[in-house]
Amino acid sequence: MKLLFIGDVVGSPGRDMIKEYLPKLKEKHRPHITIINGENAAGGRGITEKIYREFLEWGAQAVTMGNHTWDNRDIFEFIDKAKYLVRPANFPEGTPGEGLKFLKLNELEVAVINLQARTFMPALDCPFQKAEELILEAQKRTPIIFVDFHGEATSEKQAMGWYLDGKVSAVVGTHTHVQTADNRILPNGTAYISDVGMTGPYDGILGMERSAVIHRFLTSLPVRFEVPKEGRTLLSAVLIDIDEKSGKTKKIDRILINEDHPFFH
Ligand SMILES: [Fe+2]
Repeated sequence: MKLLFIGDVVGSPGRDMIKEYLPKLKEKHRPHITIINGENAAGGRGITEKIYREFLEWGAQAVTMGNHTWDNRDIFEFIDKAKYLVRPANFPEGTPGEGLKFLKLNELEVAVINLQARTFMPALDCPFQKAEELILEAQKRTPIIFVDFHGEATSEKQAMGWYLDGKVSAVVGTHTHVQTADNRILPNGTAYISDVGMTGPYDGILGMERSAVIHRFLTSLPVRFEVPKEGRTLLSAVLIDIDEKSGKTKKIDRILINEDHPFFH
């Protein structure tokens, strides 16, 4: 079975890319499941119910999150009823929402886990221990387990990939917004990539308007980052081909759509 995962959607330019290219990607690759990381989808910070619903309408089956999960207040109104929204599982006990969700696929189920890393990021519960715990729970229902590991440090993401090799179908990194070229199948059948990359402004800095970011580096003054409203855009994703019986992955391909890498049918 094929799983399409689209990396961090940033603001309206990112949402426009999903609307335009998700149908085309589906037609070309015929994924059985599509998952989107939506933690930057509302103006670069957080997600709203309207955007979450749009992603499902446009063809996603689940939306994963990250460190910006709570940045748009709308989340508190809808997270408990959002069946297909997966937030990092290693937030403290009692936090709204869930970090493991199951998607139905005919007779099969796909477990979707979202975890947040800790290096250069806010302190949370241990993502490695949390992963162990959730994998045991997921394995009771399905061998097909997908992990979005939202983190800053490549080393922590690689550590998670190797730690979970053979226990899950895929560990894909999100959050750094730059697609890495290290997609591979680890020896025990787990697909891995350090970062899938972002979907949104192509000429910003990590999707944000350049001049404000440069100003901050030049002056160290606090600056408000905004998503540019105009300009060129990109979409970053991976396509994963999983053996349904074993849950092991056969192939992971990178997808990049921008003016330098145009989409071909
Ligand atoms: Fe993030």
